[in-house]
Amino acid sequence: MAKTLILYFSSHGNTEKIVKEIQAQLREPCDLAPIKGFKVSKLAEYDRIALGGSIHAGRMQKQVKAFAEKNTSVLATKPLALFVGCLDKEKPVEYIEATFPPELVAHATLKTGVGGDVVIENLPGFMRMIMKKITPTEDMRHSPNAEGREALKKFLEG
Ligand SMILES: Cc1cc2nc3c(=O)[nH]c(=O)nc-3n(C[C@H](O)[C@H](O)[C@H](O)COP(=O)(O)O)c2cc1C
Repeated sequence: MAKTLILYFSSHGNTEKIVKEIQAQLREPCDLAPIKGFKVSKLAEYDRIALGGSIHAGRMQKQVKAFAEKNTSVLATKPLALFVGCLDKEKPVEYIEATFPPELVAHATLKTGVGGDVVIENLPGFMRMIMKKITPTEDMRHSPNAEGREALKKFLEG
């Protein structure tokens, strides 16, 4: 059985919730780990890896970029999916291309958005006011991207 891993960065817990849901729906066990604190030496154990983060003000977290740059050589030897949590349905590939090294973008079997949510109550005070202005209705704060999540599940199931 292939050993699979979802490695993620989540600033306010939304992407974490999404990848946990994906993990729970998989037919086979799949490890899930935040990039922060992940032991790089463990990468070699996996046969299939999904790596991603989320978008804030048009950028993915710098920790995701740094992790991918540091570990390009090992990541490029395995089936790889690059994913992004965001509200924008049009830009996932653009966000991915702006974050990951070209070698990994070219190598990845899947580049997809998994959608995102803005939960006002989970944001620090100053961000709440900004996000209430940018996303004034509850509808605008949820972007499910069922297709992207399904594609990521398929990738992880091999
Ligand atoms: C301050 C802030 C800025 C954001 N900027 C963008 C953006 O530029 N483009 C976008 O598609 N989504 C944007 N989002 C939506 C997030 O990508 C979405 O809430 C995502 O689910 C966050 O995941 P996380 O909680 O795991 O970090 C923004 C959210 C916040 C709170």
